[in-house]
Amino acid sequence: MIPYSRQSIAQEDIDHVLAVLQSDFLTQGPWVPGFESILADYCDCPHAVAVNSGTSALHIACLALGLQPGDALWTTPMTFVASANCARYCGANVDFVDVNAETGNMDLELLEHKLVRTRYSGTLPKIVVPVHFAGHPCDMKTLFRLGEEYGFKIIEDASHALGADCEGTKVGDARHAHITVLSFHPVKMITTAEGGAAMTRHEELAQKMRMLRTHGITKDAELLTNPDEGAWYYEQQMLGYNYRLTDLQAALGVAQMGRLNSFLEKRRLLAKRYREKLSGLPLALPTDNDQASWHLYRIGLSMCGKSRKDTYDHLREKGYGVQVHYYPVHLQPYYRALGFKPGQFPEAEGFYEDGLSIPLYPDLTFEEQDAFIAALTEWVEG
Ligand SMILES: Cc1ncc(COP(=O)(O)O)c(C=O)c1O
Repeated sequence: MIPYSRQSIAQEDIDHVLAVLQSDFLTQGPWVPGFESILADYCDCPHAVAVNSGTSALHIACLALGLQPGDALWTTPMTFVASANCARYCGANVDFVDVNAETGNMDLELLEHKLVRTRYSGTLPKIVVPVHFAGHPCDMKTLFRLGEEYGFKIIEDASHALGADCEGTKVGDARHAHITVLSFHPVKMITTAEGGAAMTRHEELAQKMRMLRTHGITKDAELLTNPDEGAWYYEQQMLGYNYRLTDLQAALGVAQMGRLNSFLEKRRLLAKRYREKLSGLPLALPTDNDQASWHLYRIGLSMCGKSRKDTYDHLREKGYGVQVHYYPVHLQPYYRALGFKPGQFPEAEGFYEDGLSIPLYPDLTFEEQDAFIAALTEWVEG
């Protein structure tokens, strides 16, 4: 089966992990700070806090920004559930802003209308979570300006977008967000198996998130209330979690970061080839974008007269593991039980109904891609 996405593992990844297995520390050794410093340099951001998943990064980001019961967090329905769930972990309420039908990203005009309406009749959000769908960056400058005007903080969910460029700077630099979250799940831009990071330019947020990822504990002499107790001493100063990344994972991450630029180059090349070879078919193709990280290549099927379900089943039968991103979050039973209903976010619902993610990952060969294109063309024209 040719999947829609998969990790790329080379001998250097294996060597890095083996080196940790043969060392003194499997966790809490030198690799996590090493990985953090590579991430921070790559993204040109002063602080990277590595954790055991993108979901954990979203959770501690919400906590560091003080999200509490009764507060509101707004995000997009066209995302993985974690972008919304992080608010529920804090007891806060979730609401959604519909997406732009072309990009699948939060529609910032709709956001502004909702902010105007809500200013007079409801609770403005404490946090807004944009998502760079498929690795196509949102307009973060406009969002940041709205944040200043309406007083909300921004957690940028860049789980799909490590390595993407946004107006001349790297996604992950957190210039137009309070915290930017990355995920290193196997299908993402790099992998640590499970893993994630929270990037920030604010020293106090980084310090808080470092404590939150390890039970709320610090050993930093400058932060201890009782620094003379002894060299063994640590303090728990808040309620935190065990969200630590292991050294095994961080070592894999270091090796993967060494190949991130070549991963990006290949993804961008494959995306260009899809555009060239599929543009004659009645399909909606994503906007050409050399700045995107191309985590996914999503096509829209509504013009071709074939149902998404039949297309999915047919291509799977032929050995192509196409996928669907995403069943809109507000339609998940958990969110329906909170009061959300079909029809509330029609653009996201339409984007879901007609969308299919087709194979795109660094190790996909041109021959494999061409064979998939032939199978898709035959189906669409048949
Ligand atoms: C947009 C988005 N946000 C958050 C996450 C959660 O990341 P993780 O799987 O590393 O917890 C994902 C992962 O699929 C994602 O796609």
